[in-house]
Amino acid sequence: MGFDTSDDACVYRLRDNLAVIQTVDFFPPMVDDPYAFGQIAAANALSDIYAMGAKPSLAMNLLCYPTCLAQETVQAILAGGYEKVKEAGAVIAGGHTIQDPEPKYGLCVSGFADPAKILRNSGAQPGDLLILTKPLGIGVMTTAAKADLLTAAEFSPAIESMSMLNRAACECMLRFPVHACTDVTGFGLLGHALEMGLGSGASIRLFSDALPLLPKARELAEMGILPAGAYENMRYMQGKVTYRGKVARVLRDLIADPQTSGGLLIALSAAPARKLCERLANEVTPWARIVGEVVDHGENTVIVE
Ligand code: CO
Ligand code: CO
Repeated sequence: MGFDTSDDACVYRLRDNLAVIQTVDFFPPMVDDPYAFGQIAAANALSDIYAMGAKPSLAMNLLCYPTCLAQETVQAILAGGYEKVKEAGAVIAGGHTIQDPEPKYGLCVSGFADPAKILRNSGAQPGDLLILTKPLGIGVMTTAAKADLLTAAEFSPAIESMSMLNRAACECMLRFPVHACTDVTGFGLLGHALEMGLGSGASIRLFSDALPLLPKARELAEMGILPAGAYENMRYMQGKVTYRGKVARVLRDLIADPQTSGGLLIALSAAPARKLCERLANEVTPWARIVGEVVDHGENTVIVE
């Protein structure tokens, strides 16, 4: 697959019916607890494989840490990553560690799939509804936690959401005729919707009043607690998005909020989409929502209402 439509992972065809899907992701901690950080970094790296509708098989650790970091801390990061890779049904086959003043952790992940069954972010069709499987507001919440504006209990839904694998959501969606899928990460819902729209040659309408939001995220965003990435996303999206009607400032901000280990954004025809969303909500996550629809390409690629 080429680079033109910004797919979540690279796909290399080995045989007619077999391709390897590969992705890599690593970053510095956004939480204090090293075990949770390991879990989140691994769930985030594994997510790009699920976004392609595939199953991860092999993972390699990528770890950077300063020599002053306690051995238990390093072990806790790796244990968190190991736990998530195990939960994904994949194996850690090795890795590489270097010394770095700032700790960073993540994985290189490979999966294998029939190329005909791989989902791309570019197959959305006018008439499709869009489902999002995790709540927004991760960037706002981690920024607030860094500034000590949240208690541990208030921050825990964000940690829970980030460390949750997209595995069950992926397995559930694969039972439905899905047209396109991606995962919502650094570019926020807005940026990933833009990629889906551009790749599909269609426009995406997002329903700002239907967005699932982490508890406290709206209140914090209203106070102006936004990560730098949200402003970067909004700057990048200038001219590429139309706001129609009265879309509250805070929702414009949250729609651009960069997500770490965010949910899947799934496009499929309206009737099966309603069924899938119900099934996801019953069996996988209470956060699954229909957040938008795909329409013929019009005045702009993304329309927020
Ligand atoms: Co992705
Ligand atoms: Co990625």
